[in-house]
Amino acid sequence: MPDTVPWICLEMTRLMLGRTLERICKAVLLLCLVHFLIMMILYFDVYSQRFDIFSRFNGRNFSRTHHYYYNLSRPNGTFASYLATGDHFLHSARPETNITPTAKPLPPCPEVPPGLVGRLLIEFSSAMTLERVQKENPNVTEGGKYTPPDCRAKQKVAIIIPFRHRDHHLKYWLHYLHPILRRQKIDYGIYIINQLGEDTFNRAKLLNIGYTEALKDAEYDCFIFSDVDLIPMDDRNLYHCYDQPRHFAIAMDKFGFRLPYAGYFGGVSGLSRNQFLKINGFPNEYWGWGGEDDDIYNRITLNGMKVSRPDVRIGRYRMIKHERDKHNEPNPQRFNKIQNTKVTMKRDGINSLQYRLVQVTKYPLYTNVSVEIGKPPPRPPRG
Ligand SMILES: *[C@@H]1O[C@H](CO)[C@@H](O)[C@H](O)[C@H]1NC(C)=O
Ligand SMILES: *[C@@H]1O[C@H](CO)[C@@H](O)[C@H](O)[C@H]1NC(C)=O
Ligand SMILES: *[C@@H]1O[C@H](CO)[C@@H](O)[C@H](O)[C@H]1NC(C)=O
Ligand SMILES: *[C@@H]1O[C@H](CO)[C@@H](O)[C@H](O)[C@H]1NC(C)=O
Ligand SMILES: *[C@@H]1O[C@H](CO)[C@@H](O)[C@H](O)[C@H]1NC(C)=O
Repeated sequence: MPDTVPWICLEMTRLMLGRTLERICKAVLLLCLVHFLIMMILYFDVYSQRFDIFSRFNGRNFSRTHHYYYNLSRPNGTFASYLATGDHFLHSARPETNITPTAKPLPPCPEVPPGLVGRLLIEFSSAMTLERVQKENPNVTEGGKYTPPDCRAKQKVAIIIPFRHRDHHLKYWLHYLHPILRRQKIDYGIYIINQLGEDTFNRAKLLNIGYTEALKDAEYDCFIFSDVDLIPMDDRNLYHCYDQPRHFAIAMDKFGFRLPYAGYFGGVSGLSRNQFLKINGFPNEYWGWGGEDDDIYNRITLNGMKVSRPDVRIGRYRMIKHERDKHNEPNPQRFNKIQNTKVTMKRDGINSLQYRLVQVTKYPLYTNVSVEIGKPPPRPPRG
């Protein structure tokens, strides 16, 4: 008997030790599991760009993670959203830093702006006033300028509108275009080039003037030339410049939403500063309606460039109906002139532009540039 008692004691001790070991093992396992879970949460948090988990550890030193996010955001633009959220995290986790939110660099604007809505309903029957348009666009600054508040646009875009006596159309144009351009995250300014007097209209010359005057105002990279009566029906038709000269208005309602002919370049087009200079700007000698857009098309192809266009479903436009303007009759010489672009483009263009600047007025929604551009030379006598 005395032998069995210590044996039982030994057995019991072993048993207890076993249980304790088992408990320790369980505890270690549990700890491992918790550790693993925390790691998983941290891991997924990084990738879902939510940093709230970190801000719960406010007092702790996370400078290693800071550098990690900071450097992730560096490679040119590919991690734009990291920069924004990462900086936000930096401020919330380290309130002692004296970096102010206003000093933080903006991320580049996304290639595809997130707030676009696609196809738009465009109509011209509701009453329109400049006061209303102004109320709808409180963030457009004097002269019709706008800069995206939350990102840095790659290009600065001047929108040039050749103009005379079309105040009614201009209201609709501003009403529709300002919100579209804002959604597209374009950094832009609007320039109305107003031909004074009642002599024959000269669209292309006004566009050359728009290019020149806009550059006096700011360092623009891109120039979009738009008629005042053309409204895009889809905001995915992005108003910036492309690798090749751009034709935007490829499917107008008045042409049955089709390109009227393959070389059509009218209505709304866009060239970068380099593309514009490469073709010596636009011709100054097309007075009256028509031909100048074909001459511009010729200039582009003769200089080894191609016209780029949006998808036909996206490049749709509505035109505000109107009578043909007075003093803008079809130009009878237009067919002859476009045969000679190759010769004329070297001497007739931005390098030969002459006009008289009369007045520049900055309105809340646009800049009005009023100019005198002369009149067509007298026709050579026949025979
Ligand atoms: C955080 O750690 C870094 C080194 O990684 C150190 O230089 C810094 O002083 C620390 N900050 C605090 C608030 O402890
Ligand atoms: C982050 O990038 C900067 C330069 O962009 C470099 O000086 C720094 O050492 C990098 N930090 C880390 C933790 O890699
Ligand atoms: C970022 O882009 C600039 C010019 O756009 C270039 O000079 C620089 O080398 C680029 N940096 C990296 C890390 O790619
Ligand atoms: C104008 O800008 C302010 C500050 O950036 C912003 O809060 C507001 O929503 C903007 N308004 C419109 C109509 O975009
Ligand atoms: C532009 O200014 C001229 C005067 O310089 C004025 O006659 C014309 O009505 C203005 N046009 C617009 C659209 O503001």
